[in-house]
Amino acid sequence: MNLTFIQPPQVEWASGALAKGPLLRKSTRIQDLIEVFADEPARQQLAGEHVVYDVEMLATSSAEGELYTGVTHLYPGHVGGEYFMTRGHFHARREQGEVYFGLRGKGLLLLQNEHGQARLENVFAGSIHIIPGFTAHRLINTGNEVLSALAVWPAIAGHDYAALAKGFTLRVFEENQQILVREVQNG
Ligand code: PA5
Ligand code: NI
Repeated sequence: MNLTFIQPPQVEWASGALAKGPLLRKSTRIQDLIEVFADEPARQQLAGEHVVYDVEMLATSSAEGELYTGVTHLYPGHVGGEYFMTRGHFHARREQGEVYFGLRGKGLLLLQNEHGQARLENVFAGSIHIIPGFTAHRLINTGNEVLSALAVWPAIAGHDYAALAKGFTLRVFEENQQILVREVQNG
């Protein structure tokens, strides 16, 4: 029997680079993150074109029951002392969870439930993060290198950014070369 073997997509674990599949890419820049950081005037002082994070994902089926796979590359940097981070979101379908796998770099995963209760998990090469349903999530790069994390989530989950328009209840800053976590009231 003359079988041909399908060549699947690939991830290079050390860098998170995806290959061998139709891919979708999106860059999020300083100019896209209006009022995401605590110090909005500081954000406006930065070059708007500067990329804060890139997301690369496999262009796979969006049908119910299918899974999406993507890698976030979050670059090092600060806005007014606050570490670069993703916008963060709840899933539009709140009950849907997600799994993140740390690939390289050093950072935090900020998780927050619908009551505004937040917690932080260390992200590093090899870390596994089970994000339950009803839980908003945001990556924060606390290192000097790119932080890359692989994510797998239900195609039907969707993103709800508006629910967090007032931000998360925790913010993470660098002060005197230390990580400083501040609680915010408006969350
Ligand atoms: O599905 C996810 O949670 C990730 O792929 C994120 O979408 C990615 O990290 C970018 O973050 P955000 O969608 O909050 O801008
Ligand atoms: Ni998500």
